[in-house]
Amino acid sequence: KNIVILISGGGSNMAAIVRAAQQGDWRRTLDAQVAAVISNRADAGGLAFAKEHQIPTEVVDHKRFPTREAFDAELAAAIDRRQPSLLVLAGFMRILTPGFVQRYEGRMVNIHPSLLPAFPGLHTHRRAIEEGCKFSGATVHRVTAELDHGPILTQAAVPILPDDTEEALAARILTQEHLLYPRAIAALLPSL
Ligand code: GRF
Repeated sequence: KNIVILISGGGSNMAAIVRAAQQGDWRRTLDAQVAAVISNRADAGGLAFAKEHQIPTEVVDHKRFPTREAFDAELAAAIDRRQPSLLVLAGFMRILTPGFVQRYEGRMVNIHPSLLPAFPGLHTHRRAIEEGCKFSGATVHRVTAELDHGPILTQAAVPILPDDTEEALAARILTQEHLLYPRAIAALLPSL
């Protein structure tokens, strides 16, 4: 089955998914072809990794479009050319229009670096530390019209340690994201 991954930055989650799809022992469980990696930024670090791994890449620069609707229409056209069973958001930093969300309803997932429904949006690690939370983590969820909401598919929890910094917590969570996201996709794909 084809999957398309949307990124905006470093793309370490995308890289983890590509590795899981390409490596021998994973192929049996993550039976997926990464048909394209699409970025809204030409300077997204993850594009180089995708190219090195023979994944087709595309840039749809949001700044070229007058409205979110126009950007989303072009993005949808780029996605649909690859005929994906599943659309994977991996550090994709654009708010999606309701029309776009509806188009991929039931076949679009996102990963967020908190234990949703706690701390949707930005600065999750800082907020979790400031609140005195003892645990945080990562959530893979289906995408609905509301940002960082939608039915939860799976989560991983990590401890927040005394004197944790935002950076230390982010790194601890990101390590878990790289394990969680390929597994969540492998679990979901057979039903699509
Ligand atoms: C991850 O923490 C992800 O949960 C969040 O943005 C970060 C993206 O990192 N949505 P990367 O681009 O996958 O390295």
